[in-house]
Amino acid sequence: MQATIALLPGDGIGPEVIQEAQKVLAVVAERFGHTFTYETGLVGATAIDATGNPFPEATHALCVKADAILFGAIGDPKYDNDPTAKVRPEQGLLAMRKALGLFANIRPVKAWDQLAEASPLRPEVIQGVDLVILRELISGIYFGQPRGRNEAGTQAFDTCVYDKETILRMAKEAFEMARNRRKKVTLVDKANVLATSRLWREVVTEYAATQTDIEFETMFVDNAAMQLIRDPKVFDVVLTGNLFGDILSDEASVITGSLGTLPSASVGEQTSLFEPVHGSYPQAAGQNRANPIATILSAAMMLEMAFGLHAEGQAIRAAVDVAIAEGKTTEDLANGSLSCTEVGDFIASQIRATIGV
Ligand code: IPM
Ligand code: MN
Repeated sequence: MQATIALLPGDGIGPEVIQEAQKVLAVVAERFGHTFTYETGLVGATAIDATGNPFPEATHALCVKADAILFGAIGDPKYDNDPTAKVRPEQGLLAMRKALGLFANIRPVKAWDQLAEASPLRPEVIQGVDLVILRELISGIYFGQPRGRNEAGTQAFDTCVYDKETILRMAKEAFEMARNRRKKVTLVDKANVLATSRLWREVVTEYAATQTDIEFETMFVDNAAMQLIRDPKVFDVVLTGNLFGDILSDEASVITGSLGTLPSASVGEQTSLFEPVHGSYPQAAGQNRANPIATILSAAMMLEMAFGLHAEGQAIRAAVDVAIAEGKTTEDLANGSLSCTEVGDFIASQIRATIGV
């Protein structure tokens, strides 16, 4: 097949990990006879430096036109420590999600047995974990109005808003996803305190009653944060709002041993976007130390979900499994000592060795 991919490397380690994903995609294209065309766009701090806008219109146009978007990371410390900064790199990511209507963020967390020792959790806790966090991505406290400061600047406020329609489309995604998995949905909220959470509970519980083949439970987010590391095997599909999903997905990365292994997909009304869960890791930028696996697995999700290329996605996953089994990994994982490019080279060569022309 022929596909156009909008490539948005972004900031920090973004360009390095994107380069390794491209390396792997090139081998897949060669071995399976596909043509992937890339069009690169600016986003984040790099886009602010070049244009003043963290999500320039040219990048938006590129994304709308493309068959899929592969994104690196966003964020630069020069903005983090400046509360007065008018434009921030993160606004680019949020604007992009909103502009493309990417309402559902899918973050799978699957433990590798070989990495059981890489996690601070006990091996018996993490062995066999296979869950997915389904995070609402374009509403909630990330976007609600009003937000800002009072005139004196002495008070700040954010607003959390959810409407029925937004919740219902997430519920549909969750139950559909569970149907192809272990058939369980856990709604994570704070319905004992928040009005928005009570609406989530009402809408999702009502919908769940029509989906009798799927087990449904609800859990308060504070308890969920505990259960996620106490006994993560109880979870299959974790359905939650924007902020809770953000926090829980970083927490869940502890299960695999490194945030550097977690991929994600964001789907919605237009082009789907695929990105590692990790951020721009500025301390490692330009040092060839970053773990490219999260981005390489995001590319696998892209092949499967955006292009329906399942054998190709599986070929990438199998090669990543070998890299992990053989300890061909970066320093963030147990015994890993390879560079970012070496891990990319290994995974690419593994695919080349196992898939015939
Ligand atoms: C993520 C990130 C973003 C978020 C930041 C960079 C705005 O942490 O994708 O999880 O909070 O959504
Ligand atoms: Mn996050």
